[in-house]
Amino acid sequence: MNIIVTDDYASMSRQAADVIAGCIAETPSCVLGLATGSTPIGLYRSLVERVRAGKLSFRDVTTFNLDEYRGLPATHEQSYRHFMQTHLFDHVDVNADATHVPDGANPSHEQVCAEYEQRISDAGGIDLQLLGLGHNGHIGFNEPDDHFAVNTHLVRLHERTIQANSRLFDHIDEVPREAYTMGVGTIMRAARILVVASGADKAQIVRDAFFGPVTPQVPASVLQLHPYVTVIVDEQAGALCV
Ligand code: F6R
Repeated sequence: MNIIVTDDYASMSRQAADVIAGCIAETPSCVLGLATGSTPIGLYRSLVERVRAGKLSFRDVTTFNLDEYRGLPATHEQSYRHFMQTHLFDHVDVNADATHVPDGANPSHEQVCAEYEQRISDAGGIDLQLLGLGHNGHIGFNEPDDHFAVNTHLVRLHERTIQANSRLFDHIDEVPREAYTMGVGTIMRAARILVVASGADKAQIVRDAFFGPVTPQVPASVLQLHPYVTVIVDEQAGALCV
C-alpha cells in the first residue's frame, strides 16, 4: 500500500487525477471504477480540464460506478448518475453507453445486482477503482458489519450515512434508506485501487483503516490485503499517518 500525504485538497486532486490519466494513457480502453461524494469533485474537475486542453480522452474508456440510491431515478438531482453526469460525463468525450451506474429505479435488487456483476465481468473486470472513505470506514455503501459482503448487493444505510448525506437533500426524510453497491469482493477484484480522503474529520478513519486491524467493522481496512493500492490524502486527513 502506497500512502501519499499531499499539501492540500488541490494537490490531492491533481495527484489522484494523474493516476487516473496515467491509467488511461497506458490503456486507452481501460475500465474505471468511479465514486461519487465530495472528495473526488476536485479530481473530476482536473480530468475535465485535461480533456478540454486536449491532453486526455475518455473515448474508449468504460466506467462502472460503485453505488446508487435505490428508489431514485437517474434524472433525480441527488442520484449518483446525475452526480456523475454533472461532474464528469457531460464534460468529457466518454461514450454514454460505456458509463454504468446501478439502476436505482429498478426495484428488483436480484436483477440489478446480478446484471451489474455480469457487466463488469463482460468488460473484463475493473482496471482502476477509485474510492472515497466514509467516516465509519465504509467503501461504496459497504457499512461496518460482522462480515464482508462479496458481490453487488442491496444495503440498508446506516443512520450516520443518512445524516451525512442529508446535507444534499432538502429534508432528512427525503434521503433514501437503501442503496445498491458493489460488494467488497467486487472492489477487491479491481486490478488497482486508488483511495482519496480529505479533511481533518477523516484523519482518524484513515489511520484506523490503513494502520489498524483488518476487520469488517472498518470495511476499508480490507484494502490492506490488496496488492496494489494507492491512498492519496491531504495533510489534514493524513495527520495521524505517522
Ligand atoms: C460514493 C461512495 C461513498 C463515498 C464516501 C465518502 O460513491 O461510495 O463511499 O466515497 O461516503 O464520501 P465523501 O467523499 O463525500 O466524504
